[in-house]
Amino acid sequence: MVPRSRIAPPPVLPRHVAIIMDGNGRWALAGGKARLAGHRAGVRAARTVVRGCLEAGVDVLTLFAFSSENWQRPADEVNGLMRLFVEVLQREIDELHANGIQLRLIGAREHLPEILRRRIAAAETRTAANTGMTLVLAVAYGGRWDLVQATRRLAAKARTGDLAPEDIDETVLGRHLALAGLPAPDLLVRTGGERRISNFLLWDLAYTELCFTDVLWPAFGADDLAAALEFFRSRQRRFGRTDEQVEVVAD
Ligand code: IPE
Ligand code: IPE
Ligand code: MG
Repeated sequence: MVPRSRIAPPPVLPRHVAIIMDGNGRWALAGGKARLAGHRAGVRAARTVVRGCLEAGVDVLTLFAFSSENWQRPADEVNGLMRLFVEVLQREIDELHANGIQLRLIGAREHLPEILRRRIAAAETRTAANTGMTLVLAVAYGGRWDLVQATRRLAAKARTGDLAPEDIDETVLGRHLALAGLPAPDLLVRTGGERRISNFLLWDLAYTELCFTDVLWPAFGADDLAAALEFFRSRQRRFGRTDEQVEVVAD
């Protein structure tokens, strides 16, 4: 029998929660509203989840707000979303800062409208020294874009002789990805019923627990977050080992 002191405590809380906030359009349609009304309602759900994660003690929350592929949507919707991001940043930044939250954007920011880029840069600078929860907003983000931008930077370093190709390993590659310096997500939540990753954090989700729910994002509330955290508590994370191995703390 394994001595009690050698039994590993279950992972109680995910350090990093990542969310694919999907279902805004369907939520709006069901209520006879325009898609943009669904996105606006989605912001309320995001507020609830930020507060919930903060209260629960989550270290990092990553929200997928706009994907590389979402540029293909009708111009009205894309423009409306860009305006909404500007408005929300302006409105929420004081409260985020007051709560000690550090804000970080991941994505191809050079494709974003100038005004949004400026708001983001200002918010990042203002909250840079905060030591509370890190809120990562994935905007104009794609997992493939992320791998490509990391590869480009590695190739540039190799060309100038600052990096030898044989020194590139998982750690070095990880340091060039958008989430560099942050732990990989422990829990991924996708709302809206689809069971796919949709080009989100392709590298970082390698060992993430996946939680899919049919709840449409604007309807996602504190109780749904609690259910997702409870789902995480029920998982045994083996990282390739056997369950006997993971029940014993490595010496
Ligand atoms: C997610 O909701 C928000 C974004 C992708 C910007 P959707 O707009 O994809 O909502 P559905 O999937 O059409 O219901
Ligand atoms: C994923 O949702 C992207 C975001 C939530 C920002 P989509 O609605 O774009 O995903 P697909 O197109 O159904 O895969
Ligand atoms: Mg969708």
